[in-house]
Amino acid sequence: MSHAFPRRSALRLLGGAIAVAAAATGAGPASVAHAESRTGAGSRVEGLISKLTLDEKVSLLHGATDPAPLGQAGHVPGVPRLGIPPLRLADGPAGVRVARHATALPAPVLLASAFDPSLAHRYGQVIGREGRALGQDVLLSPMVNLIRTPYAGRNFETFSEDPLLSGDLVAAEIRGIQGEGLIATVKHFALNNQEKDRMSVDVRVDEQTMHEVELRGFEAAVAAGSGAVMGAYNKVNGTFACENEALLTDVLRDRWGFEGWVMTDWSAAHSTVAALTAGLDMEMPDGTYFGDALKKAVRDGAVPEARVDRAVRRVLAVMDRFGLLDRSAPARPARDPEAGAAVALEVAKAGATLLRNERHTLPLTAGGGIAVIGPTGSLPFVSGGGSAHVVPDRADSPLDAVKSRAGRGAQVSYALGEDLFGKVIPRGVLSAGIDAEAQGVAAGRTWRYDGTLTVADADEWTLVIHYSGERPRVFLDGEDLYPVVPGYGEYFQGGLVTAAPDGLTVRRRTLNLAKGAHRLEITAKGGAGGQLFRLRRSTGTTRAQDVAEAVSAARAARSVVLFAYEDATEGQDRTTLALPGHQAELIEAVTAANPRTTVVLNTSSSTSMPWLAGTGAVLQMYYPGQEGAAATTAVLFGDCDPGGRLTQSFPVDDDHHPVAGDPRRYPGVDGTEEYSEGIHAGHRWYDAEGARPLFPFGHGLSYTSFAYDDPRARPSPQGVEVSFNVRNTGRRDGVEVAQVYVGPSPDLRLEQAVRVLGGYRRLTLGAGESRRVTVVVERRTLSSWDAERHGWVLGTGRRDFWVGASSRDLRLRTAARVGR
Ligand code: BGC
Repeated sequence: MSHAFPRRSALRLLGGAIAVAAAATGAGPASVAHAESRTGAGSRVEGLISKLTLDEKVSLLHGATDPAPLGQAGHVPGVPRLGIPPLRLADGPAGVRVARHATALPAPVLLASAFDPSLAHRYGQVIGREGRALGQDVLLSPMVNLIRTPYAGRNFETFSEDPLLSGDLVAAEIRGIQGEGLIATVKHFALNNQEKDRMSVDVRVDEQTMHEVELRGFEAAVAAGSGAVMGAYNKVNGTFACENEALLTDVLRDRWGFEGWVMTDWSAAHSTVAALTAGLDMEMPDGTYFGDALKKAVRDGAVPEARVDRAVRRVLAVMDRFGLLDRSAPARPARDPEAGAAVALEVAKAGATLLRNERHTLPLTAGGGIAVIGPTGSLPFVSGGGSAHVVPDRADSPLDAVKSRAGRGAQVSYALGEDLFGKVIPRGVLSAGIDAEAQGVAAGRTWRYDGTLTVADADEWTLVIHYSGERPRVFLDGEDLYPVVPGYGEYFQGGLVTAAPDGLTVRRRTLNLAKGAHRLEITAKGGAGGQLFRLRRSTGTTRAQDVAEAVSAARAARSVVLFAYEDATEGQDRTTLALPGHQAELIEAVTAANPRTTVVLNTSSSTSMPWLAGTGAVLQMYYPGQEGAAATTAVLFGDCDPGGRLTQSFPVDDDHHPVAGDPRRYPGVDGTEEYSEGIHAGHRWYDAEGARPLFPFGHGLSYTSFAYDDPRARPSPQGVEVSFNVRNTGRRDGVEVAQVYVGPSPDLRLEQAVRVLGGYRRLTLGAGESRRVTVVVERRTLSSWDAERHGWVLGTGRRDFWVGASSRDLRLRTAARVGR
């Protein structure tokens, strides 16, 4: 896959000096949404196909180098002689990823936590407009793969473990994106639920599970009109997703009526004829299989040209629907960074999920002083790594935001607590001949050091290298400390912790070093632009000092806000639910010193919390985007109610969750993985097993309290209407996410969940305010997939409905009879 690298690194190198064609007016949503009904659209596409040569047709079916790259992930050249423009394709899920600044929105999991499709629509609108403004035609997002394993590296890029919620949000976001004229690509179709072995793992899954769990979001995306679908890397039931006829044709086209085009994930194609026949239309980012090999296959008669035409037709039909084939293509709007920032802030506040709040720890007051602790308390943690990483317009330090909110005269102190970037190596530790703080290497020169590192007492050392340009090779006692990871490994190294505050790349290595002298050899190459690097370290001793400083800051303040992080990225899964590094010890020490400690989690997904009982409060902010500092501060001080609820169950530990204890279930054995939990994914598994999560799906606290009463359920043409009262019983305005769960049908002999999410409603209620809420549980949610009949069957008979504030906080129960 080395062919994909130049474009990826180009993204970093291009910098800001790229001109983007930006015109003043936007493509009106209406012109896009209803374009397919324009008269003559189909005949225009057919007319073009009849004029295209085989070479030209094939050129529309695979990526190629962009002659004027904007730092985006992909490019498909057009056919200028026929007025077919090129396509530029950019990631991604949390904002437009090009080599220019863009609105870095909160991670999709934070958006999802708001349980608010209308907010997802506005989130999509920001990305849609920016994508067009930044010279893009296709967005490689949203991602709707379900959160199946808490370890999966991309859990922050997607929405939820729940199919209904994911489906609602993906549909709303796609409408928002496409309404601005940007073509959306729902990804990764399908069952790309983990990063471990994602290029090859064979997911074994039965039909009922597939339809009831993972596919619902994709189906919703298709129903919302997604222009494109991205095929996944993995195999599904023995066949790669990008050449899987059961998925690409039987489900996507024949069952769901998808009319857009299917592209591969980057370098996910494995064949020419098989893939095209199965229903793949476009290979990205190059033409390994859909370039010359495809032309040859047609010329040799291995595949009829009509198959090529079919794929071209699908691409052109979407372009036509978006007005891209019109003589005057829709004008590109200008960016609106203020509007983007406003939505980023609103989403981060709306999704902020308060997991715990004891002893009135929150909201904060400035009196008595506040200690901010943790590396991500001063450095803003904007987004995760990999293709979802966006160059933010701006990002503030949470410490500065807390200081400014606390006001003049307030005591706000700061302690690092956990050292991410290492400390200066004291004199005498390294033998002469190196400037460990700023070693320069001139362009074109190679610099070598062969010296010693002397350890006074045996200790655990983390050696941290910061560098520009090519990575220096560092050997300690003959061991390569920072080996270059082959393939995509180097690219997918995390979002925050791999760059120093001044932009240098960072790599770390932790070792137990014996007392005495160790041989240290370094080779650094100046490359074309010269190189700068520094070598730093932390040790058990420096760590103890960092913790001691944090503890004394915590003691001196009335309240503590401790920012904890976990830096996820695509391309790799976590191996533990624990916080990385020594953060757990830091939290234990700080909470022991001051129980009025709030832990703010900037993490990708669930975290185990052996330290929970000592804390005053825990606020889950995930990766909050460029306005994260302001949003976090607003929630901490109670300027807004924490509006988020968990879209995934948080397990108590690594041994009690849906994929624990059976390597065939996760991460797979001999390249195969069995979805043997079946339809009992996410919160359904906890119910099926009677297992206790640390925090259940749907959980999240408000600063006020709510009471529920008077539930009624009655059948309606759409399904069942469940209505109930919700009352704000506290003294502040607040947000509640009322949830409806449905029990199984007595009439079905299919596997059914103890309860599924039937619907939800996000409510903002003033102090003392009461509202009657009606949630429609749709027929689809009341149905199960019958694998023998290959279709949905309605679960008739008496069905139970629960109303509550989480999957485990069920306050009301009612029932209705579901008929045919
Ligand atoms: C990711 C996709 C992304 C693509 C282009 C792949 O590695 O899996 O989600 O859209 O790269 O950057």
